[in-house]
Amino acid sequence: MQTINYVKVPHQLDCGDSVFPSVVVNDGSLTTQQECADWIKSNLPELESKLRESGAILFRGFPVDSAETFDEFSHSFGYPNFTYKESLSNAVRINYTERVFTANEAPKDVEIFLHHEMAQTPISPSKLFFFCKSAAEKGGETPLCRSDMLFEDLAKQMPDLAADFVKKGLKYTTQMPAEDDPNSGQGRSWKSTLSVQNDTQAEQKLAELGYSWEWLADGSLRATTPILPAVIDMGNNKQVFYNQLIAAFMGWKGVRENPSSAITFGDGADIPVEGLQLAVKLSEKYTFDLPWQDGDVALVDNYMAMHGRRPFSGERKRQVLVALAID
Ligand SMILES: [Fe+2]
Repeated sequence: MQTINYVKVPHQLDCGDSVFPSVVVNDGSLTTQQECADWIKSNLPELESKLRESGAILFRGFPVDSAETFDEFSHSFGYPNFTYKESLSNAVRINYTERVFTANEAPKDVEIFLHHEMAQTPISPSKLFFFCKSAAEKGGETPLCRSDMLFEDLAKQMPDLAADFVKKGLKYTTQMPAEDDPNSGQGRSWKSTLSVQNDTQAEQKLAELGYSWEWLADGSLRATTPILPAVIDMGNNKQVFYNQLIAAFMGWKGVRENPSSAITFGDGADIPVEGLQLAVKLSEKYTFDLPWQDGDVALVDNYMAMHGRRPFSGERKRQVLVALAID
């Protein structure tokens, strides 16, 4: 298979210059890892321009069936690895290979709301690979949301708020427990999150990153980021809503009742709740629910698209693995 075989799938979003996501199907001619690697390398410019335009590409029917083959497949794109260990992600995950780990260990009835991976930290990956090792019996889709379209719409409806997001940026406050809590979507301990052994090292690391912090009586650590962007200009007349507002407002403990406990504008001012509600409402309009099939691989541009995880049910173990890259 020399050329790229795009197909249409139900509910793809029409984005004017592109469809979201792009879907590429193996016509059966790529049967080995080596053939896949060669095909990816020879088609890389086209795949990359498609990714920039659309925001996500789903690869279906390729010979990827394990953490190891997924590692090889994602590695063929040639992007530097963004390791979970070095990241400040607050999700609890398990590493399979150096590059590959579980997407999120949160229980199946917990929804992971839309977010840009690690946008609430000063260092975030630019590309995400997802691999469906085993799809859930029911549910468990990965919602993907076009962040540029969401922000364009938001800016039309609440121009002053959109201007404030651009101008002021955001600050996030998170609480990291003393020990890993796998029952929470964001239960990673401060030792693991910051890759440190003790409180002195934790404080040093936070100071280096420009955070402020406070130790709580139960041994957990509350930390506030330096000012981070709420919107990023992609340089092609697109601005993306690169932040964690939706996930925080919808999913972080206590945030819906009191948003300023977790997020404020960069100058410390409260973000109007109507603005958060509008962002959530608009996100539904620009979201495609990726219905996983075993062996699917999705490549997501972390700037162009947000992602999440729908709840799922059934006996079958849903296993979606992730590899992150930064380029
Ligand atoms: Fe994520």
